[in-house]
Amino acid sequence: MEKIYINKEIAQLIILQRVDLIGPILKKIRKIFGREFFTNIASKYLIIPSIIGKKYFGIMEFEYKQISKYIELKDKEVLSIGSGVCGLELIIYLNYPNNFFSIIEKNYISKKVTYGWDTQNFEAYNNLELVNNFLIKNGMDQKKFMIYNYDLGNLPQKKFDLILSLYSLDYHYDFNLYESYIKKVSNKNTKIIFDTIRPDYFKKIFDNVEIIYSKENTVHKSKRILCSNFKN
Ligand SMILES: C[S@@+](CC[C@H](N)C(=O)[O-])C[C@H]1O[C@@H](n2cnc3c(N)ncnc32)[C@H](O)[C@@H]1O
Repeated sequence: MEKIYINKEIAQLIILQRVDLIGPILKKIRKIFGREFFTNIASKYLIIPSIIGKKYFGIMEFEYKQISKYIELKDKEVLSIGSGVCGLELIIYLNYPNNFFSIIEKNYISKKVTYGWDTQNFEAYNNLELVNNFLIKNGMDQKKFMIYNYDLGNLPQKKFDLILSLYSLDYHYDFNLYESYIKKVSNKNTKIIFDTIRPDYFKKIFDNVEIIYSKENTVHKSKRILCSNFKN
């Protein structure tokens, strides 16, 4: 992207959603002062938005290129679950402006963000109004996306061509939270992409499961899988 509009509040969301973006100083601060201080103070006041924005879009370009090696992205109804501030969706849109994006996220920031498996699905780090403004200010047409608050329950009811959930579904909370919903809004041609540490489990759920990316240098050692066709 040529010019990125990014303010402090969006930069804060980004580093809570993609904690691997923080540099060694913030990492040290998080270790010494704890996660509550990091979430409420350090992530707000000790960051430079332009640097975070540049790094974030670098990573999102990487994700975009990685995914586009495996699937066609043109003229798609896209559902994005846990999209964060939607950098990936924005890049897909800028390349394929005919796509429509339905975005499901949560609308609060946990006081003390604890990364990892969240059985109760209480963890969230987003602000839907800020995301809406961020997309529009970066050139996305308001008619080309709709943001849904997961906790309000009025999720979009249509068939999607592509369902994306990077480092959210089955990475932070159990796939079964969305399983029956995804079944309802997909058909045999729908491609579903998400990150998980248990790719083999999904062979019981889908006819087709392909590992398209491995992240070995993290604690989680997750795999990105491309799935289609629910077994029943
Ligand atoms: C680690 S972040 C990943 C964000 C983005 N996909 C990315 O790759 O940068 C996980 C996101 O999942 C969101 N989340 C948590 N529970 C959710 C749910 N039930 N439905 C949708 N999003 C959820 C969080 O608010 C957070 O933004």
